[in-house]
Amino acid sequence: MKKILITGSTGQIGVDLAERLRELYGKENVITSARGVSADIPNEPLFEKLDVTDGKAFYEIAKKHNVDTILHLAAVLSAVGEKDPELLWHINMGGLQNALDVSKELGTALFVPSSIGAFGPSTPKVNTPQVTIQRPTTAYGVSKVAGELLCDYYHLKFGIDTRGLRFPGLISYKALPGGGTTDYAVHIYYDALKQKHYTSFIAAGTKMDMMYMPDAVESIIDLMEADPAKLVDRNAFNVSSMSFDPEELKVSIQKVMPDFTLDYDVDPVRQAIAESWPDSLDCTEAKKQWGFNPQYDLDAMTVDMLEKLSSK
Ligand code: SER
Repeated sequence: MKKILITGSTGQIGVDLAERLRELYGKENVITSARGVSADIPNEPLFEKLDVTDGKAFYEIAKKHNVDTILHLAAVLSAVGEKDPELLWHINMGGLQNALDVSKELGTALFVPSSIGAFGPSTPKVNTPQVTIQRPTTAYGVSKVAGELLCDYYHLKFGIDTRGLRFPGLISYKALPGGGTTDYAVHIYYDALKQKHYTSFIAAGTKMDMMYMPDAVESIIDLMEADPAKLVDRNAFNVSSMSFDPEELKVSIQKVMPDFTLDYDVDPVRQAIAESWPDSLDCTEAKKQWGFNPQYDLDAMTVDMLEKLSSK
């Protein structure tokens, strides 16, 4: 990667990723873009307003900055997608089609995040393999499977350098996630600090894969810098560094804040989504093909999250 365009850069992943890329590649080589603007934009020298469903604007911005890599993060998440599947399809698939076409026109590499949402109730739940049944029951999941296959297709048919990761729930302190099912695992830390209590919309006993944002950011960079000859899977790799349910997360927070309490007000929509997803992914192929190597487990993440959030 030399000159990078990030779409959806004001979102949960984009904010952390842009900051790290500027450190590593120089701020003159990181172009951020999003539909709206955030408070941080004045500090972003190369921000472009971009609606990814506008293919012409997408192409012109990528061409103007002469980018060699597109990190296409703009997307609608699972819970919002269940409320408005048409909007999800328009943004997630329309945006991806444009990203692929721009990559093809300009010969750029393309990163596209997939998700644990690309799996469904008929997928093996524990140690979910890299290649397995993918019949999701959410609009988000359907768009992720279609997106994975489209990336595969563009690689095979046109030789586009597509790469992707099936992200689990991502936990971070800089920007909030926007309408996902795994968001409880972020909100719990904010409420722990504010009121020593959290009411969870996901039920006790519901395990999901998760990862701390610094590991997610490094994994994007490691994957994009990997030797293309070693990459067999061009759709998306399973990545995860922990798997827990709300009770296990509570215990981890209580190690730092013994008076923290948790109760439940389960949201049936998000609970059904969570139950359709795996409990734990097998990440062997990511380790083997490009050296996936996450640093944070649950307790290390909890200590860091609470420290960073309280100083914020
Ligand atoms: N964090 C996402 C969501 O919950 C999963 O990819 O929608």
